[in-house]
Amino acid sequence: AFYPFLATVAAYLIGSLSFAVIVSRVMGLHDPRTYGSGNPGATNVLRSGSKPAAIATLLLDALKGWLPVMLVQWFGQPYGLGDGTLAAVGLAAFLGHLYPVFFRFQGGKGVATALGVLLGISGWLGLATALTWVIVAFFFRYSSLASLVSAVFAPVYYVLCGGILWYTEAPVTAAIVVMGLLLIWRHRENIQRLVAGKESRLGKKKPVAG
Ligand code: G3P
Repeated sequence: AFYPFLATVAAYLIGSLSFAVIVSRVMGLHDPRTYGSGNPGATNVLRSGSKPAAIATLLLDALKGWLPVMLVQWFGQPYGLGDGTLAAVGLAAFLGHLYPVFFRFQGGKGVATALGVLLGISGWLGLATALTWVIVAFFFRYSSLASLVSAVFAPVYYVLCGGILWYTEAPVTAAIVVMGLLLIWRHRENIQRLVAGKESRLGKKKPVAG
C-alpha cells in the first residue's frame, strides 16, 4: 500500500497549487480572494477583467486534476496502482484544490479540477460534462449554475455510458459522486444567491472591490 499512498499524497500536493492565486500573482493582478466572490477560481479571476489570466487558471487547475490520473494510467501498473488508486488520486487532487495545504486550507470550489479528473478518467466523460457546462452557461449565463448542473450529470454520464463506452468501476463511481457532492457543498453561497436572484452573471461588467 506504499505506492498508492505516495501517489495519493503527491496528487493532494499538486491539487493544493491554487492557480487562481499563483497566476494572478505572476501576472501582477489583484489576489482573487479579495474581490468578486472571493473564490480562487477561473470564474472569479475573469472578474478581474483579464481573460488570459482566467484561461490560464482554468487550464492549470484542470491540468492538476488530469495529470495525476493520467500518470496512474500510464505508469501505475508496475507499481500495483489500479482503479482504486486512480479514484483516490483524482479525489486527492480535487481535495487539494478545495483545502490546499499551501494556502491555509482556503481553496476553491473544484470545478476546473473536477473536469480535469473526469477528462483523465475518460475523454468522453470529460467532454460530455464540459459540454453540459457550456450549454447551461450559454443559456443561463451563470457559471455556478452550469457547475452545479454538470456536477449532477457527471456521475449519471459515467454510470449510464459505462456499459457502452468503458467499464464502470465502483471506486471511480464513488469518487465522482463524492466530488459532485463536495462541489455542490462548496457552492452553497452561490445557491443562496441564485435563489435570491443575486448571483452575478457571466460576461457582465461589474465593478469589483479590492
Ligand atoms: O468555478 C466556480 C464557479 O462555479 C462559481 O464561481 O466565483 O462565481 O463563486 P464564483
